[in-house]
Amino acid sequence: MATQAPTLEDTSLKSIIAHAKEYGFVYPSSEIYDGLQAVYDFGPYGVALKNNIKQLWWKSMVQLHENIVGIDASIFMHPKTWVASGHVSSFNDPMVDNKDSKKRYRVDTLIEDFAENLRQNGNEDKAQHVIEEMEHLLEQDNLDGLHDLIVKEQITCPISGTVNWTEVRQFNLMFETKVGSVAEEADTLYLRPETAQGIFVNFLNVQKTARQKVPFGIAQIGKAFRNEIVARQFIFRMREFEQMEMQFFVREDHGMLWYEHWKEKRMKWYHALGIPEASLQYHDHIKLAHYARAAVDIEFNFPFGKKEIEGIHYRTDFDLKSHAEVSRKKIQYFDPEVNKNYIPHVVETSAGCDRLFLMLMSHAYREEEVQDGDKVKQRTLLKFHPTLAPMKGAILPLVRKDGLPEKAMALFNDLKFDFPLIYEEKQAIGKRYTRQDLIGTPFCFTVDHQSLEDDTVTVRYRDSMKQERIPMAAVHKLLAEHTAESTFLKSL
Ligand code: GAP
Repeated sequence: MATQAPTLEDTSLKSIIAHAKEYGFVYPSSEIYDGLQAVYDFGPYGVALKNNIKQLWWKSMVQLHENIVGIDASIFMHPKTWVASGHVSSFNDPMVDNKDSKKRYRVDTLIEDFAENLRQNGNEDKAQHVIEEMEHLLEQDNLDGLHDLIVKEQITCPISGTVNWTEVRQFNLMFETKVGSVAEEADTLYLRPETAQGIFVNFLNVQKTARQKVPFGIAQIGKAFRNEIVARQFIFRMREFEQMEMQFFVREDHGMLWYEHWKEKRMKWYHALGIPEASLQYHDHIKLAHYARAAVDIEFNFPFGKKEIEGIHYRTDFDLKSHAEVSRKKIQYFDPEVNKNYIPHVVETSAGCDRLFLMLMSHAYREEEVQDGDKVKQRTLLKFHPTLAPMKGAILPLVRKDGLPEKAMALFNDLKFDFPLIYEEKQAIGKRYTRQDLIGTPFCFTVDHQSLEDDTVTVRYRDSMKQERIPMAAVHKLLAEHTAESTFLKSL
């Protein structure tokens, strides 16, 4: 089988994966047992970055809006939930197996990768044609047609290199588990494949107890699970991941207005994070779910192509109506403005925390050449927005003697209540700066002999590598000004 040479994109994703592991961001899960496919663990800087993303999202959505409130629903839900939501009957992906390698693939991903290869080889028209044909067949649920397309285009299995494919079949992506001690008595439960349903089933509870009036939103951050067959591209597609979802309940005649509102607002959020406009785009769904009136993805230009980070969906009244029918409960809202009862419509914003993490890592990861005296040297750094950086500053005594560690530790102890900081005294100062660049710490504060005399420190800026002396008493203000969430939130 002919293996393809790695592309520049593969190389840079590989660099990010290696960096994430080496510097404590992301590890393969249970690595001592050789890992578990499509499952990852977050290390000390990874969890800090992830918490910052979640915190910023939560504050942007809940704290800044008097009409959005949060919940934290369980991962396990009554099994009928997934009947009502349509996941039992139709949360499927068309899959195909290669008979030689015995590997299973999502049909859309297989064809998309083939088209991407054509594109990279300058065959843009053909690539476009293949994608259009695939989208048409997916829209028609034409599984035989998808199989014929794969065979017609001689799309090979990346492992075996053959075109020996089974027929295309639908596979449900939900994980099942049993509750109860004896298997026969057990009931089947599902690990939730999206957090949204926890919000829908709590609609009345929340609306009443939080005394909200339509239009209002319910937000939630939590784990979701999908039995993804093609698990590649690092943390982009995982079997266990975290969603940050908000369901906004509106009057039907205002539905499209709110859809446009959230579409624009969510895009602006990414710009505020420092992601350039040129790296993001909208991608309208061609194939709408039967209940959706409009749907769009926000895509980021990952090293492996333009891919979805967040979906904004106008889900109509489908979910609430369906839960009302299956549960036989009245789920309605009395709107005093129009003096009637109705089932509200829903506009949803659904972002993947892990995909945002990968987006931020991809954007922040830089290998650059810098002048070091009269030499040019290479440095690698993570240029995170200071509000998102896992560690805000590093406190570094120049040497481990002469009372410098004590002075530096006093500064650390003074600041630690407000900022996550690193204290490090081992190795030469240059090496310590390099290490902070590698984990994306925006500021280093060095305590030297002069600090003992005049209570000043040297601040070294990650991005410019410039250094300047500032009073120790000014360190708190500098950190607060540059890293405060409130500065970010005010810019929205
Ligand atoms: N409630 C709507 C919903 O779940 P979705 O487009 O299936 O919509 C929303 O998922 C977001 O969740 C995606 O934009 C993506 O960021 C994230 N996501 C979905 N599947 C994922 C996976 N297997 N691994 C990581 N993130 C995933």
